[in-house]
Amino acid sequence: MMRVPSSDLAAFGRIMMPEEASEPILAKPVRAALTEWLTEIWCADELTAVGLKPRRRAMFSGAPGTGKTTLAHHLAARLGLPMLMVTPDRFKTAFLSESSRNIGQLFNLLQAAEEPMLVFFDEFDSLAAKRMNTGFNPSAEQNHNEAINTMLAGLDACDGYVIAATNYADRVDEAIWRRFEIHVTLDLPGDRERRRILCRYFEPFVLPADALAHLSDALAMASPALLRSFAEHIKRQIVVGPKAGWSMNREAVIERVITSVKPHPDLGLPRLWSLGLKDKAVAAFPWPLERSAAAYPTPAHAGGDADRGGATAGSVVPMRRKGGEA
Ligand SMILES: Nc1ncnc2c1ncn2[C@@H]1O[C@H](COP(=O)(O)OP(=O)(O)OP(=O)(O)O)[C@@H](O)[C@H]1O
Ligand SMILES: [Mg+2]
Repeated sequence: MMRVPSSDLAAFGRIMMPEEASEPILAKPVRAALTEWLTEIWCADELTAVGLKPRRRAMFSGAPGTGKTTLAHHLAARLGLPMLMVTPDRFKTAFLSESSRNIGQLFNLLQAAEEPMLVFFDEFDSLAAKRMNTGFNPSAEQNHNEAINTMLAGLDACDGYVIAATNYADRVDEAIWRRFEIHVTLDLPGDRERRRILCRYFEPFVLPADALAHLSDALAMASPALLRSFAEHIKRQIVVGPKAGWSMNREAVIERVITSVKPHPDLGLPRLWSLGLKDKAVAAFPWPLERSAAAYPTPAHAGGDADRGGATAGSVVPMRRKGGEA
């Protein structure tokens, strides 16, 4: 078969390189599932010796902003592969009748590509929705059913890694769904992950442990994407605000941030957005932000929240208020 340059695949989506990937902060069960998969891939030879192959196809489901794309990219990087991110608009902008042909062509090119690539189907429910036979719109249904059949054949023939992401796994065609050997659900982060995600995106600034605990409570139900956006907006205000002549007191900054950063309407409203400046996380938020925990003065309310004191013991939160210093 004639080898084709990887760049030919760029017509189907964006090629994301391993060195651009970043590691997501994951809940334990998700991390465990991924470690298992990677280990399996790394001992492919031993598996072959017992008549098995490493699994190659995984489906990630989860709400918007829970890190599906980030995780797929990170996995591709761990495997040392570029990732081709295919979005349904690449197929749907053309005539519907061309969907099937395009999908077939994509799999042909993948097989013939000079260097292997992990293919990531984003918004997979819209590309691989259940087949229909209502007779309501026969030609559209037939086109879609043909596309699904081509997808099935492509998945069966493809010996590379395939990851699909969806917000609605239940809308995916059953036969396609079964082709995916690994199913991972990305839930909204819990308290521990929220704190780690906040720490990552507040860097180089640090928050004292009690302020971080309050903020994490106020941001319960936030997606990683929202946490990132919140922390980054605060940092942006710190840099841009003084130059723009904005009021830079704590309340003014937080008010502007919660006005411009909006939670996804389907995901529920974290407390900070319903209480606004009345939220106790606002009063607990250190201001100005410092780059080292030692730079904060001992808070005036020290001892008022003894139950939070041990909250970070043994956890991976890299920052701690310097206790006991005057
Ligand atoms: N677990 C995580 N740890 C750290 N950052 C994360 C995590 N999950 C998501 N992010 C950040 O949130 C943003 C959105 O993540 P991503 O695009 O991967 O979500 P998604 O699930 O693919 O969303 P969508 O359903 O909208 O495609 C990214 O900027 C990413 O860096
Ligand atoms: Mg995504």
